[in-house]
Amino acid sequence: MDWLAGLYPWLKAFHIVAVIAWMAGLLYLPRLFVYHAGAAVGSPQSETFKVMERRLLRGIMNPAMIAAYVFGILVLLTPEMIDSWRSGWFHAKVVLIVALTVYHHALARGRQAFAADANRRPAKFYRLMNEVPTAILVGIVILVVVKPF
Ligand code: HEM
Repeated sequence: MDWLAGLYPWLKAFHIVAVIAWMAGLLYLPRLFVYHAGAAVGSPQSETFKVMERRLLRGIMNPAMIAAYVFGILVLLTPEMIDSWRSGWFHAKVVLIVALTVYHHALARGRQAFAADANRRPAKFYRLMNEVPTAILVGIVILVVVKPF
């Protein structure tokens, strides 16, 4: 795993790029759901939202999430990073990563419901849901930068 040490800054840079792309989707998709929930089933707007939601999830969010995991795990495997495992802040970060991943899958299920014209949730639900990734993002950035414990 020594070869990873030389790549460390690159791996971290790509980890952050992937995380930004993933977060952009996690923030934008529920926003699309807010507008989609207000569009009549079968209307041209509703059909356009379906295409936008599918492309956002499959073209950006899924690959970005996988890249964030791959680069994050490679950073974790670099020899000098092994200590991360023992830090309290890292364990808390793992909990928030799991929460973000569960949220991603909840959005994917929501997209399937919209695609099948089977969404029953009001726009307000998605407006509230939109706050979840922001709160998790604030928590993760404080944990990785401030390392409070
Ligand atoms: C997907 C699984 C993830 C894994 C396995 C992972 C792992 C890691 C590791 C090992 C580091 C290096 C820690 C250090 O520099 O001490 C790191 C850095 C970082 N991670 Fe993650 N991470 C993941 C997801 C995320 C997410 C979702 C965010 C933000 C929402 C994030 C934001 C960051 C940031 C900003 C840094 C740079 C910290 C610094 O260098 O000061 N990571 N990550």
